[in-house]
Amino acid sequence: MSLATAMELETRIDLPLCTREPMLKLLNQQLADTFDLFSQVKQAHWNVKGMKFMSLHLLFDKLAANLLRYADDIAERATALGGLAQGTARMAAENSNIEELPFEMTDGKAFVVAMADRFATYGASSRAAINQAEDVNDAVTADLFTEITREVNKSLYFLESHLQG
Ligand SMILES: [Fe+2]
Repeated sequence: MSLATAMELETRIDLPLCTREPMLKLLNQQLADTFDLFSQVKQAHWNVKGMKFMSLHLLFDKLAANLLRYADDIAERATALGGLAQGTARMAAENSNIEELPFEMTDGKAFVVAMADRFATYGASSRAAINQAEDVNDAVTADLFTEITREVNKSLYFLESHLQG
């Protein structure tokens, strides 16, 4: 299934179709990436091994909980705009731009590097989403992605701090 562009539902919201259609496509793209990254951080939470097990186990769980919150906010913005959220794991897998994790990964540092790479990619697309929302005068969607980008930048800092010093 590709990303839907047609608005599926009627709404009384005060935004024209020419704003809502590109925002629905953008929101479903970011939803796919968010849900995919959520599952990858859980994969890290479950499979990480080594002397830093507990701190990484807890960090990955915290980052996953944050991503699930973003997914909910992004999906509900799509529905608030009169669209349908494409929110199942299979929909996310089909549409995600995030690189898949190697199945055999267990090393803590390898997981931190992999997560830092992916949070950097996700933060970049989230920042680009701010500009795309501003381009069609949807300040509310821009604000949502501004908040998410700020938090994702902080998550990246938490991850990269393990690789520095
Ligand atoms: Fe757990």
